[in-house]
Amino acid sequence: MRLDIITCLPDLFDGPINQSIVKRAQQKGLVEIYIHNLRDYSTNKHNNVDDYAFGGGAGMVLMIEPIDSCISKLKSERDYQEIVYLTPDGKTLNQGMANGLSMNENMILLCGHYKGVDQRVRDHFITREISIGDYVLSGGELAAMVLADSLIRLVPGVLNDESSALTDSFQDNLLAPPVYTRPAEYKGWKVPDILTSGHEAKIEKWRHDEAVKRTEERRPDLLK
Ligand code: ADE
Repeated sequence: MRLDIITCLPDLFDGPINQSIVKRAQQKGLVEIYIHNLRDYSTNKHNNVDDYAFGGGAGMVLMIEPIDSCISKLKSERDYQEIVYLTPDGKTLNQGMANGLSMNENMILLCGHYKGVDQRVRDHFITREISIGDYVLSGGELAAMVLADSLIRLVPGVLNDESSALTDSFQDNLLAPPVYTRPAEYKGWKVPDILTSGHEAKIEKWRHDEAVKRTEERRPDLLK
Protein backbone atom coordinates (compact mmCIF):
# COMPACT_ATOMS: atom_id res chain seq x y z
CA MET A 1 0.00 0.00 0.00
CA ARG A 2 1.21 3.46 -0.90
CA LEU A 3 -0.13 6.54 0.90
CA ASP A 4 0.58 10.05 -0.38
CA ILE A 5 -0.38 12.58 2.28
CA ILE A 6 -0.81 16.22 1.27
CA THR A 7 -0.52 18.72 4.12
CA CYS A 8 0.69 22.20 4.99
CA LEU A 9 2.10 20.86 8.28
CA PRO A 10 4.42 18.02 7.19
CA ASP A 11 6.41 17.98 10.44
CA LEU A 12 3.33 16.82 12.34
CA PHE A 13 3.77 13.38 10.75
CA ASP A 14 7.36 12.82 11.93
CA GLY A 15 6.43 11.00 15.12
CA PRO A 16 3.48 8.83 14.11
CA ILE A 17 4.94 7.43 10.88
CA ASN A 18 8.33 6.64 12.41
CA GLN A 19 7.25 4.52 15.37
CA SER A 20 6.01 1.07 16.19
CA ILE A 21 3.83 -0.88 13.75
CA VAL A 22 3.70 1.84 11.09
CA LYS A 23 7.49 2.14 11.09
CA ARG A 24 7.92 -1.64 10.86
CA ALA A 25 5.39 -1.87 8.02
CA GLN A 26 7.55 0.54 6.01
CA GLN A 27 10.78 -1.25 6.93
CA LYS A 28 9.26 -4.55 5.76
CA GLY A 29 8.41 -2.87 2.43
CA LEU A 30 4.67 -3.49 2.89
CA VAL A 31 3.72 0.19 3.12
CA GLU A 32 5.15 3.37 1.60
CA ILE A 33 4.21 6.75 3.04
CA TYR A 34 5.09 10.00 1.30
CA ILE A 35 4.40 13.37 2.91
CA HIS A 36 3.94 16.25 0.47
CA ASN A 37 4.23 19.82 1.70
CA LEU A 38 1.50 21.82 0.00
CA ARG A 39 3.67 24.95 0.23
CA ASP A 40 6.10 23.38 -2.26
CA TYR A 41 3.28 23.67 -4.83
CA SER A 42 2.43 27.29 -4.11
CA THR A 43 2.68 29.58 -7.13
CA ASN A 44 2.97 32.85 -5.23
CA LYS A 45 6.16 34.39 -3.95
CA HIS A 46 5.20 34.14 -0.27
CA ASN A 47 4.46 30.40 -0.60
CA ASN A 48 0.87 31.02 0.48
CA VAL A 49 -1.55 28.15 0.08
CA ASP A 50 -4.66 29.82 1.52
CA ASP A 51 -6.73 32.96 0.97
CA TYR A 52 -9.83 34.76 2.26
CA ALA A 53 -13.23 33.23 1.55
CA PHE A 54 -15.28 34.84 -1.23
CA GLY A 55 -18.32 36.46 0.32
CA GLY A 56 -16.49 37.17 3.56
CA GLY A 57 -16.55 35.33 6.87
CA ALA A 58 -13.85 34.33 9.31
CA GLY A 59 -11.12 31.87 8.43
CA MET A 60 -8.86 31.13 5.53
CA VAL A 61 -9.56 28.63 2.76
CA LEU A 62 -6.98 26.38 1.06
CA MET A 63 -6.66 27.40 -2.59
CA ILE A 64 -7.30 25.02 -5.47
CA GLU A 65 -4.15 25.73 -7.48
CA PRO A 66 -1.44 24.18 -5.28
CA ILE A 67 -3.70 21.23 -4.47
CA ASP A 68 -4.38 20.67 -8.19
CA SER A 69 -0.63 20.84 -8.95
CA CYS A 70 0.22 18.29 -6.28
CA ILE A 71 -2.62 15.86 -7.03
CA SER A 72 -2.14 16.11 -10.80
CA LYS A 73 1.59 15.41 -10.50
CA LEU A 74 0.91 12.33 -8.37
CA LYS A 75 -1.85 11.11 -10.72
CA SER A 76 0.48 11.45 -13.73
CA GLU A 77 2.89 9.04 -12.02
CA ARG A 78 0.48 6.23 -11.02
CA ASP A 79 -3.19 5.33 -10.65
CA TYR A 80 -4.94 6.07 -7.38
CA GLN A 81 -7.97 4.11 -6.24
CA GLU A 82 -9.06 6.84 -3.81
CA ILE A 83 -8.35 10.52 -3.16
CA VAL A 84 -9.58 11.07 0.38
CA TYR A 85 -10.32 14.43 1.99
CA LEU A 86 -10.34 14.40 5.81
CA THR A 87 -13.15 16.63 7.00
CA PRO A 88 -15.60 16.71 9.92
CA ASP A 89 -18.53 16.69 7.46
CA GLY A 90 -17.35 13.46 5.81
CA LYS A 91 -18.66 9.94 6.45
CA THR A 92 -17.61 8.71 9.89
CA LEU A 93 -14.77 6.20 9.79
CA ASN A 94 -15.55 2.73 11.09
CA GLN A 95 -13.88 -0.68 10.95
CA GLY A 96 -15.85 -1.79 7.89
CA MET A 97 -14.67 1.26 5.97
CA ALA A 98 -11.08 0.66 7.11
CA ASN A 99 -11.27 -2.99 6.00
CA GLY A 100 -12.46 -1.94 2.53
CA LEU A 101 -9.92 0.86 2.08
CA SER A 102 -7.04 -1.38 3.25
CA MET A 103 -7.39 -3.37 -0.02
CA ASN A 104 -6.33 -0.33 -2.09
CA GLU A 105 -2.86 -0.13 -3.54
CA ASN A 106 -2.48 3.67 -3.86
CA MET A 107 -4.32 6.42 -2.03
CA ILE A 108 -3.95 10.17 -1.61
CA LEU A 109 -4.99 11.69 1.73
CA LEU A 110 -5.63 15.43 1.64
CA CYS A 111 -5.52 17.26 4.96
CA GLY A 112 -7.68 20.36 5.23
CA HIS A 113 -6.79 23.29 7.40
CA TYR A 114 -8.24 26.60 8.55
CA LYS A 115 -11.83 26.80 7.23
CA GLY A 116 -11.33 23.96 4.78
CA VAL A 117 -10.57 23.73 1.07
CA ASP A 118 -12.09 25.45 -1.94
CA GLN A 119 -15.25 23.46 -2.74
CA ARG A 120 -14.02 22.91 -6.32
CA VAL A 121 -11.26 20.64 -4.96
CA ARG A 122 -13.93 18.49 -3.35
CA ASP A 123 -16.11 18.54 -6.46
CA HIS A 124 -13.41 17.66 -8.99
CA PHE A 125 -10.62 15.70 -7.28
CA ILE A 126 -11.90 14.02 -4.14
CA THR A 127 -13.39 10.52 -4.37
CA ARG A 128 -14.23 10.09 -0.68
CA GLU A 129 -14.69 12.37 2.34
CA ILE A 130 -13.97 10.90 5.76
CA SER A 131 -14.45 12.20 9.29
CA ILE A 132 -12.95 10.50 12.34
CA GLY A 133 -15.77 11.64 14.63
CA ASP A 134 -18.24 14.36 15.51
CA TYR A 135 -15.78 16.95 16.79
CA VAL A 136 -13.63 19.53 15.05
CA LEU A 137 -9.84 19.26 14.96
CA SER A 138 -7.51 22.12 14.01
CA GLY A 139 -6.70 20.35 10.77
CA GLY A 140 -6.99 17.05 8.93
CA GLU A 141 -3.48 15.87 9.90
CA LEU A 142 -4.43 13.98 13.06
CA ALA A 143 -7.41 12.50 11.24
CA ALA A 144 -5.14 11.37 8.36
CA MET A 145 -2.84 9.67 10.88
CA VAL A 146 -5.78 7.89 12.50
CA LEU A 147 -7.01 6.71 9.11
CA ALA A 148 -3.51 5.67 7.96
CA ASP A 149 -2.88 3.73 11.18
CA SER A 150 -6.22 1.92 10.95
CA LEU A 151 -5.44 0.86 7.35
CA ILE A 152 -1.78 -0.05 7.75
CA ARG A 153 -2.37 -2.57 10.55
CA LEU A 154 -4.78 -4.41 8.20
CA VAL A 155 -2.24 -4.87 5.38
CA PRO A 156 -1.34 -8.59 5.29
CA GLY A 157 2.03 -9.22 6.96
CA VAL A 158 2.12 -5.98 8.94
CA LEU A 159 1.08 -7.55 12.24
CA ASN A 160 3.30 -10.39 13.40
CA ASP A 161 0.35 -12.45 14.59
CA GLU A 162 -2.01 -12.50 11.60
CA SER A 163 -4.97 -13.34 13.77
CA SER A 164 -4.52 -10.28 15.89
CA ALA A 165 -6.23 -7.82 13.54
CA LEU A 166 -9.08 -10.30 13.13
CA THR A 167 -9.73 -10.39 16.87
CA ASP A 168 -9.75 -6.59 17.25
CA SER A 169 -12.82 -4.84 18.58
CA PHE A 170 -15.42 -4.19 15.84
CA GLN A 171 -14.15 -6.89 13.45
CA ASP A 172 -17.29 -8.98 13.95
CA ASN A 173 -19.38 -6.08 15.27
CA LEU A 174 -18.34 -7.08 18.80
CA LEU A 175 -16.06 -5.27 21.22
CA ALA A 176 -12.96 -7.25 22.20
CA PRO A 177 -13.15 -9.34 25.43
CA PRO A 178 -11.01 -8.53 28.50
CA VAL A 179 -7.36 -9.66 28.42
CA TYR A 180 -4.95 -10.52 31.24
CA THR A 181 -1.25 -11.28 31.60
CA ARG A 182 1.09 -12.38 34.39
CA PRO A 183 0.95 -12.49 37.35
CA ALA A 184 -2.16 -14.69 37.64
CA GLU A 185 -2.84 -13.11 41.01
CA TYR A 186 -1.94 -9.56 42.06
CA LYS A 187 -2.88 -8.04 45.43
CA GLY A 188 -5.52 -10.76 45.69
CA TRP A 189 -7.06 -9.85 42.28
CA LYS A 190 -7.26 -13.08 40.32
CA VAL A 191 -7.33 -13.76 36.59
CA PRO A 192 -10.49 -15.78 35.66
CA ASP A 193 -9.68 -19.50 36.27
CA ILE A 194 -10.83 -20.50 32.79
CA LEU A 195 -7.94 -18.57 31.18
CA THR A 196 -5.32 -20.59 33.05
CA SER A 197 -7.16 -23.92 32.62
CA GLY A 198 -5.63 -24.85 29.25
CA HIS A 199 -9.10 -25.76 27.79
CA GLU A 200 -8.85 -24.06 24.41
CA ALA A 201 -12.48 -24.56 23.38
CA LYS A 202 -13.79 -23.36 26.72
CA ILE A 203 -11.50 -20.32 26.59
CA GLU A 204 -12.80 -19.44 23.11
CA LYS A 205 -16.40 -19.72 24.34
CA TRP A 206 -15.59 -17.58 27.40
CA ARG A 207 -14.01 -14.92 25.18
CA HIS A 208 -16.99 -14.86 22.86
CA ASP A 209 -19.47 -14.64 25.77
CA GLU A 210 -17.47 -11.81 27.36
CA ALA A 211 -17.31 -9.96 24.02
CA VAL A 212 -21.10 -10.19 23.68
CA LYS A 213 -21.61 -9.10 27.31
CA ARG A 214 -19.29 -6.11 26.91
CA THR A 215 -20.95 -5.12 23.64
CA GLU A 216 -24.45 -5.38 25.17
CA GLU A 217 -23.35 -3.17 28.06
CA ARG A 218 -21.34 -0.55 26.18
CA ARG A 219 -22.41 -0.55 22.54
CA PRO A 220 -25.81 -2.21 22.14
CA ASP A 221 -26.14 -0.36 18.80
CA LEU A 222 -23.49 -2.71 17.32
CA LEU A 223 -25.69 -5.78 17.93
CA LYS A 224 -28.63 -4.50 15.89
N1 ADE B 1 -10.66 17.91 10.24
C1 ADE B 1 -11.09 18.61 11.31
N2 ADE B 1 -11.85 17.85 12.10
C2 ADE B 1 -11.91 16.61 11.53
C3 ADE B 1 -12.55 15.40 11.86
N3 ADE B 1 -13.30 15.26 12.95
N4 ADE B 1 -12.38 14.35 11.03
C4 ADE B 1 -11.63 14.48 9.92
N5 ADE B 1 -11.01 15.58 9.56
C5 ADE B 1 -11.13 16.66 10.34
